[in-house]
Amino acid sequence: MSFSPALIRQDFPIFERTVREGKKLVYLDSGATSQKPHSVIEAESGFYKLHNAAVHRGAHQLAEEATDAYENARLIVANFLNAPGGSDEIIFTKNATESLNLLAYSMGNAKNTNRFALKTGDRIVVSEMEHHANLIPWQQLCARTGAELAWFSVTPEGRLDLSAIDSVITANTKVVALTHQSNVLGTIIPLEAIVARAHAVGAVVVLDACQSVPHMPVDVAALDIDFLSFSGHKTLGPTGIGVLWGRKNLLDELPPFLYGGSMIEYVTMTDATWAPAPAKFEAGVPNMAQAVGLGAALNYLSKIGMENIHTHELALTGYLLEGMRGIADLKLVGPTDTHSRGGAISFMVQDIHPHDLGQYLDSQGVAVRTGHHCAWPLAKALNVPASTRASLYLYNDESDCDALLDGIVGAKKYFGRL
Ligand code: ALA
Repeated sequence: MSFSPALIRQDFPIFERTVREGKKLVYLDSGATSQKPHSVIEAESGFYKLHNAAVHRGAHQLAEEATDAYENARLIVANFLNAPGGSDEIIFTKNATESLNLLAYSMGNAKNTNRFALKTGDRIVVSEMEHHANLIPWQQLCARTGAELAWFSVTPEGRLDLSAIDSVITANTKVVALTHQSNVLGTIIPLEAIVARAHAVGAVVVLDACQSVPHMPVDVAALDIDFLSFSGHKTLGPTGIGVLWGRKNLLDELPPFLYGGSMIEYVTMTDATWAPAPAKFEAGVPNMAQAVGLGAALNYLSKIGMENIHTHELALTGYLLEGMRGIADLKLVGPTDTHSRGGAISFMVQDIHPHDLGQYLDSQGVAVRTGHHCAWPLAKALNVPASTRASLYLYNDESDCDALLDGIVGAKKYFGRL
């Protein structure tokens, strides 16, 4: 069956409603959070209706069913990412931000000869295009350990500047933490050269895949990375569930972050030892219904096919970029072609503040994001204090792009710029 956003939209109850006095909802803010299909909403509520119990604890039938559902979701995630060590490599968190904080805090808990113990003279590498979730946890880890933070800069075209890769990823680099696809620019970074250099100096590669896992095939084994984070809510799944994937041998070495029930092996009044991963990183009763909902989301995406979704979004991105080229005074923030790029498209329209533009677009039923997009240093580096961002997903089509383009032209008239 051919790819049909119109059919896909029928699976999403939110598209049955209208906005702003009967206008069609044109949802172009999936970079912030995606909409949810019936199957996800039903999987989450079905857990509560039929199977609700605390996983990994009870001795009764409901606890067994809840545990099976939760662990089945873990297996679905492992298969989705092609995790070489299977579901033991999948840690459920609240969202990608928590996954990255978990990793940074756990590293900060490493002592003495542990490979993750950081000290003065060690280096953590990020880039100027990180959103705050993949920047501030590393800044803070540096502050706690004495390690230094270094970063790749961004070219005026919105690409990662790898011209000085050997002097950015130095011999003392321990962690290279980068976004796979910029949430502002849409840029997909050239991972191969980065992973090769990082591994040559013995650093681990952490991939913030918030904007890639929902939109294209991501195979952690093929990418040869060490850790990866993504959020359920950007991946058609519920809020309150995220994933940290890590290589099993690295998770075995990494100390825990949160302490409490279910993450232990043995406890006395004065000490405790830890269960193997992933339990070691999942203290307390986890977000069970949300994990089950995420499993349903990944099943939904797999049925449609991640390659098909990526191809569709790339075609729409090309269509939108072409349309934007025809609007005078519109300036793109980020790559102007579809090479190594996803469907997050940020732009400015001369003299119209992005917040005003966003409000006008909203009056036409078009939902976009405006501001610095939680990537303030990038905004400063590109000298773009604020922009408007459209972000595409599988349920968008050319008519959504046309609505945005018409809305921008309408805003120019409304604000007297035409
Ligand atoms: N990082 C999310 C976004 O890009 C919240 O909108």
